[in-house]
Amino acid sequence: MSVRKGIILAGGSGTRLYPLTIGVSKQLMPVYDKPMIYYPLSVLMLAGIREIAIITTPQDQEQFRRALGTGAQWGISLTYLVQPRPEGLAQAYTIAEEFLAGSPSCMVLGDNIFFGHGLPDLLALADAKTEGGTVFGYHVADPERYGVVAMDERGRVTQIVEKPKVAPSNYAVTGIYFLDARAPDLVHGIRPSERGELEIVSLLEIYLEEGLLDVQRMGRGFAWLDTGTHASLLDAGNFVRTLQLRQGMQTGCPEEIAFARGWVDAEALTGMAAQLSKNDYGRYLQGLLTDRMMEG
Ligand code: DAU
Repeated sequence: MSVRKGIILAGGSGTRLYPLTIGVSKQLMPVYDKPMIYYPLSVLMLAGIREIAIITTPQDQEQFRRALGTGAQWGISLTYLVQPRPEGLAQAYTIAEEFLAGSPSCMVLGDNIFFGHGLPDLLALADAKTEGGTVFGYHVADPERYGVVAMDERGRVTQIVEKPKVAPSNYAVTGIYFLDARAPDLVHGIRPSERGELEIVSLLEIYLEEGLLDVQRMGRGFAWLDTGTHASLLDAGNFVRTLQLRQGMQTGCPEEIAFARGWVDAEALTGMAAQLSKNDYGRYLQGLLTDRMMEG
């Protein structure tokens, strides 16, 4: 089996956050102390994925390159791809077709933020499945705003539908998609919806018809944060701040994940901590080094 590769879809027009996002991409907006894209990037890293494509609008690519670089500083490899127009989430797979080169993938939407104990285990379960796809269902009060997944009593997917007027369940489909190597091929066979987009749900429906779509429920111990409005963006930042201050631990910190997994060594982390030494983020990285020395 070839190694699973990652995709972060970080294009789109971001008009709901205007005027914030007139000059800067939504996925580079601050969520407390780091750019939004650090969080989905951390999800991929927690899944053990080290080859990642970042899909942006043509005009925003330069900013992402400046913010994230080659990824080598975190022991990963970042490839930058462009989506000329926001023609749907499923289009990401054809844009990334060459990059994937026959590998299975995990795509995370660049504006999706997750927090929860046991997330790496949940991701590992999905990663272990070589054929078909896995999505993650999250119980929400307002499922009509999302893709919605319905399940039978044994937890098998019976229906998946995008922004239904009447939702068949309270389980929203979050923005993490584990799909097998066939995804780009299957997208070639999909027609755009009435709103002119290649819908992710159309792709997932193919897997469902084949009996190969699984859903993993993210329980109430997880937070799946919304960043779609000015208020929810601020709430997400406050959530991260509250958590980090209380726990004295970072969430969505690529340096920490890379170090913990042995993708970068203490010397590399020292360099990164020095660059951020004027703030708590840098002091946190410095603390990781001290902890490691005391353990050793
Ligand atoms: O967040 C999870 C939801 O994301 C799912 O429940 C839905 O099934 C899925 O369709 C999507 O719904 P949204 O209404 O959030 O989709 P939106 O058009 O806002 O796009 C989500 C992100 O992807 C956003 O940051 C912009 C980016 N995007 C979107 C489109 C359509 C792109 O980069 N390119 C695109 O073509």
